[in-house]
Amino acid sequence: MKIAIVHCGELLTLRGARRPRIGAELRDLAIVRDGVVVLEDERITYAGAADGIKIPGGADVIDARGRVVMPGFVDAHTHLVFGGDRVAEFEQRIGGATYETIAAAGGGILATVAATRAATEDDLLRSARGRLQWMIRGGTTSLEIKSGYGLSLDAELKILHVIRALRQESGLRVAATFLGAHTVPPELKGQPEAYLDHVIAEMLPVVGREHLAEYADVFCERGAFDPAQSRRYLSAAHEHGFKLRAHVDQLSRSGGAELAAELGCVTADHLEQSDAAGIAALRTANVQPVLLPGSVYALGKSKYADARAMIDAGLAVVLATDFNPGSSPVPSMPFVLSLAATQMRMTPAEAITAATFNAAHSLGWGAELGSLEASKRADVVIHDCHDHRELAYYVGVEPAAVVIAGGRIVHQRTDE
Ligand code: NIG
Ligand code: FE
Repeated sequence: MKIAIVHCGELLTLRGARRPRIGAELRDLAIVRDGVVVLEDERITYAGAADGIKIPGGADVIDARGRVVMPGFVDAHTHLVFGGDRVAEFEQRIGGATYETIAAAGGGILATVAATRAATEDDLLRSARGRLQWMIRGGTTSLEIKSGYGLSLDAELKILHVIRALRQESGLRVAATFLGAHTVPPELKGQPEAYLDHVIAEMLPVVGREHLAEYADVFCERGAFDPAQSRRYLSAAHEHGFKLRAHVDQLSRSGGAELAAELGCVTADHLEQSDAAGIAALRTANVQPVLLPGSVYALGKSKYADARAMIDAGLAVVLATDFNPGSSPVPSMPFVLSLAATQMRMTPAEAITAATFNAAHSLGWGAELGSLEASKRADVVIHDCHDHRELAYYVGVEPAAVVIAGGRIVHQRTDE
């Protein structure tokens, strides 16, 4: 199977340093005008100028007609698999209730835990499949998915099996993260230590042995797990061979960024409340910040993570959706780019690098995804615009015209 995409008005190659991009590097998309991309089976065999390249015989030629062609988005933080929805809470919040008070009253994450426990594996697979289509239509071709709405061995395994099935059937690159320490389940209400004992003794070993997740994650927050508890859980996960990601400093500042640095987490996610000391700690320990403006937006809050300070400090910033039924019913990476630009003052180019190349590195996929270069995986998207800045500029449109993952067309607009 060979595909040649010709007449790429702006070919965003993102070629450059083979490590996470920092500082001014974030703004360099290595754009080729009137570019060509050649895909052979699962791989890119050429991405560059049209001059001098011979289109291989037998290739299907797709005419990009002067539009933007770029790597697929890598969505590095999602909670895609869950039962039910939280639309009633959404309305309560409009009426003045807060995310925290709803959670304290047994709603929030625990409402989704009840619905997820009640769902069959099949139900979960079907609903997640539909939401994955939303993501693909936004130009996402690889993603991370967390468990965390089961909070019992059986229910967590059920979610992890659904993640594995999504990986197999979609052909997309999918990383799995075990978020057993998302919150304390109702049967152990008020006993976070007892729950963590159970997670550490009964869940981590099974999930690790069965290779159902590569990463472990924790929600370090008031009402979930404090820094000492988070440290205990993450250290145990590390001993079981998991790499670490962590939800920190989202609603309150607890020193979560410093904790992620101390433990050598691959990423520290959220960071809306982090201060200069937290940012400096992430820099020293080389932790990548994963910024999730969709959750700030959908909770109706106004304090976004300080992306400019993080870029100035030399952090290899990542952007992701945090797609979940509570704080971020946002599957669209183009919308995340818009939020990054308007609310966090990231330039469109910085946001695109954060949502592709840097995101790929945060998942250990730097050698394979995130840029358009020979030998990389054929995850390529034609967007229906002529200037990449339009991706962050127009809001609420679906710009992806053709989405190719692993050399296969997974979405094509009917007017293409
Ligand atoms: O990243 N913060 C914890 N986890 C999710 C929210 C999960 C939920 O509300 O269901 C987040 O925002
Ligand atoms: Fe999250």
